[in-house]
Amino acid sequence: MSQQTIDFTLNGVPTRVSVPVQMSALEMIRNVTGLTGTKYGCGEGECGACTILLDGVSLNSCLLVAVECDGRHVTTVEGLAADPLGLRIEKAFVEAGAVQCVFCTPGMVIQARQLLEQQPHPTREQIQRGIEGNLCRCTGYVKIVDAIESASKE
Ligand code: FES
Ligand code: FES
Repeated sequence: MSQQTIDFTLNGVPTRVSVPVQMSALEMIRNVTGLTGTKYGCGEGECGACTILLDGVSLNSCLLVAVECDGRHVTTVEGLAADPLGLRIEKAFVEAGAVQCVFCTPGMVIQARQLLEQQPHPTREQIQRGIEGNLCRCTGYVKIVDAIESASKE
């Protein structure tokens, strides 16, 4: 399979990798750069476990070809460690008990960040709509919505 070298910014760090042209951005993030916070769930755009920000917009990295990241800014859950809004959301998830098996959490937190950036004070209904592409098998969503609502009020 042919390889392509791409240059992009990963969580604020200039990054160069050589990847097979068919590789997904999710595989590149997990297996080439070694950042395993972003999860592989369905691989089909259905669960949101693989959500990242590409130039500040959330999307499913399993459906994105890695070479599309060339010249772009990619943010994964690890990158939120340096982000005040991301940290506030993560803290709210822990405090609200919105974290159980943790599998959905990285994607949820990234998606919540996108939501609160666009709508700093969303209603509960807007929060539910904002995370409808992210599946959680454990929490029943109520605590996740509580957490995002709490983060929006700080
Ligand atoms: Fe990407 Fe499920 S792994 S949406
Ligand atoms: Fe387990 Fe959401 S906490 S899938």
